[in-house]
Amino acid sequence: MNTQELQTLDREHVIYSWKQQGGWKPTVIDHAEGIYMYDTDGRKIVDGCSGLLNINLGHGNRHVLDAMRAQMEKLCFVSPGFGTEAKAKLASMVAEVTPGDLDYVLFTNGGAEANENAIKSARWFTGRQKVYAAWKSYHGATAGAITLTGDPRRWPAEPGIPGVVHFFGPYPYRCAFGTTDPEECGQRTLAVLKEQLMYDNPKSVAAIIVEPIVGTNGIIIPPKSYMKGLRQLCDENGILLISDEVMAAWGRAGTWFGIEHFDIVPDIISTAKGITSGYVQLGATIWSRKIWDYFQERKFTSGLTYCGHALACACGIANIEVYKKENLIEKAAKDGEYLASKLKALEGKHPSVGDTRCKGLWACIELVADRKTKAPIAGYNDSIRNISAQLSKIFMDNGLYLYSNWDYIFISPPLTITRRQIDEMVAVIEKGLDWTDTLVK
Ligand SMILES: Cc1ncc(COP(=O)(O)O)c(C=O)c1O
Repeated sequence: MNTQELQTLDREHVIYSWKQQGGWKPTVIDHAEGIYMYDTDGRKIVDGCSGLLNINLGHGNRHVLDAMRAQMEKLCFVSPGFGTEAKAKLASMVAEVTPGDLDYVLFTNGGAEANENAIKSARWFTGRQKVYAAWKSYHGATAGAITLTGDPRRWPAEPGIPGVVHFFGPYPYRCAFGTTDPEECGQRTLAVLKEQLMYDNPKSVAAIIVEPIVGTNGIIIPPKSYMKGLRQLCDENGILLISDEVMAAWGRAGTWFGIEHFDIVPDIISTAKGITSGYVQLGATIWSRKIWDYFQERKFTSGLTYCGHALACACGIANIEVYKKENLIEKAAKDGEYLASKLKALEGKHPSVGDTRCKGLWACIELVADRKTKAPIAGYNDSIRNISAQLSKIFMDNGLYLYSNWDYIFISPPLTITRRQIDEMVAVIEKGLDWTDTLVK
């Protein structure tokens, strides 16, 4: 079938997520290798956001493919009550790289389900109902996870599940509490949260869930003192701290888990994406020891047909082997510094660049219409104008796929990218910025 025939067939039957169905005409990808995807017309496209920030190893990693093939020949799936070598091995390998005593793993299909099980675990463990989640957060699209989400993706799903309360996290570039100093922003934000909890009865709160570094809401890196304060606030009130590491883990932030940047240990971690680099879907809810102990004599009344899918677990094992063998976590940290410096240089050069933020190979350019006043260019939920469609076109016309949304351009290539490829990617990004510069007042 040629591209046009494929597109026609696709649009006759396929429902696309997060899209108005009419008018969408997808680029059809045929195959991919390393950081490159190839469409059905043979065009080479840099996968500059690692798929949906999940293909951390890049496409077509031979070790992973061989491990998956071997597992497929042996066993793809058994009922989740059975043990398998792949499941036991992967859980122990995950436990080895998690911080503290987060050593107990429930495998899910993806990130949203990992969060659903995280909040269920927290509610049952504490006997409390409320879950605090941050504004400017994304936690997934299932009923509970979308209710936790603190951005406009939640709106159509309202009222959502009961018991979810939102609070402000620190956003130093646009601090809600009137300062531009990151530390001060963290402290003021924490003080407001403390007060909010006081009025709401802290003893009614089961958990606070945070992305340790905010992902799709703008790669916002909280001050370490804020995160330490959050941990303390949880401890003082018997509240569990859940770190949503669906995006932040597996080298993305230059560490195994994003929370390592803050020297604190959460009570529960949820993760997905880079655990298998998306070769096959897998997520995980990871418990600390006290939660594990609690469920020794109590039933954990939750599950999925695909808890611990053998093929997915074998894929996870092979991914961790590659992360270790090729030192990709350390590489992401070092190359992240390089990427950060390249993006910093854009701040002085392009008037539409308000701020750049980067941790590991996980970066964002925040666009503005005015650098002085920080007036946004697209506005919250594109209330001023939608710029991402035109930006995507400019990037794709130049062979680069990047995820951009609202005022944000995200740059998160596979961890295997070379510095020369980073330079090439930034050169294309500049073509997009040349256009956004024309929108500056
Ligand atoms: C921080 C975070 N949590 C949860 C999710 C949801 O994961 P999934 O799409 O695998 O359900 C995402 C997805 O991007 C995410 O970034």
